[in-house]
Amino acid sequence: MEARRHVALKESVRSIPDYPKPGIIFRDITTLLSDPRAFRRAVDALVHPYAGGQIHQVAGIEARGFILGGAIAHQLSCGFVPIRKKGKLPHKTVSMAYALEYGTDEIEIHVDAVRPGDKVLLVDDLIATGGTATAAVNLLQKIGAEIVAACFVIDLPEIGGAQRLRDMGVEVRALMQFE
Ligand code: PRP
Ligand code: ADE
Repeated sequence: MEARRHVALKESVRSIPDYPKPGIIFRDITTLLSDPRAFRRAVDALVHPYAGGQIHQVAGIEARGFILGGAIAHQLSCGFVPIRKKGKLPHKTVSMAYALEYGTDEIEIHVDAVRPGDKVLLVDDLIATGGTATAAVNLLQKIGAEIVAACFVIDLPEIGGAQRLRDMGVEVRALMQFE
């Protein structure tokens, strides 16, 4: 279905073995972003289910989620909310630590980034363990957002993050999957 329709797009993602650690195949979207047709196709496909005005804010996760999230927010004519790595946001924040496929990290959001009840689309380039996205969902819920869906260019389904998000009641969309 979704995954099958985006075969050409999938070919624009570069795979780098043993980065950043032995055993990890890094799925590099810089090659997709630098290909004008692939970048447009990816953004259009991510926007498509939400065109028509039900989203108030797109929340993008630093760093790669900013590139896609900014373009998606522009297309949807809605606002953009940054979810950043700890220590980067200047105003009052809520934060959450989480485990990654290759380490740990902490993200945060401004406490007043959305209005209570705002419908939010969460955007990132890739979901693996889902540690980052579930932390982002928790932060958004803490500040009163209603999460309409979480969308990604890439899902690594064997690692289980997308299922983890669905188990929390979040709709998940991804354009392609890698083993
Ligand atoms: C990558 C990716 C996602 C996250 C996915 O970001 O962009 O945000 O990992 O992994 P998970 O589902 O296991 O949490 P990374 O933390 O490497 O940061 P970057 O975007 O700043 O490179
Ligand atoms: N983030 C977590 N796992 C990743 C992977 N395999 N490739 C790119 N980004 C990632």
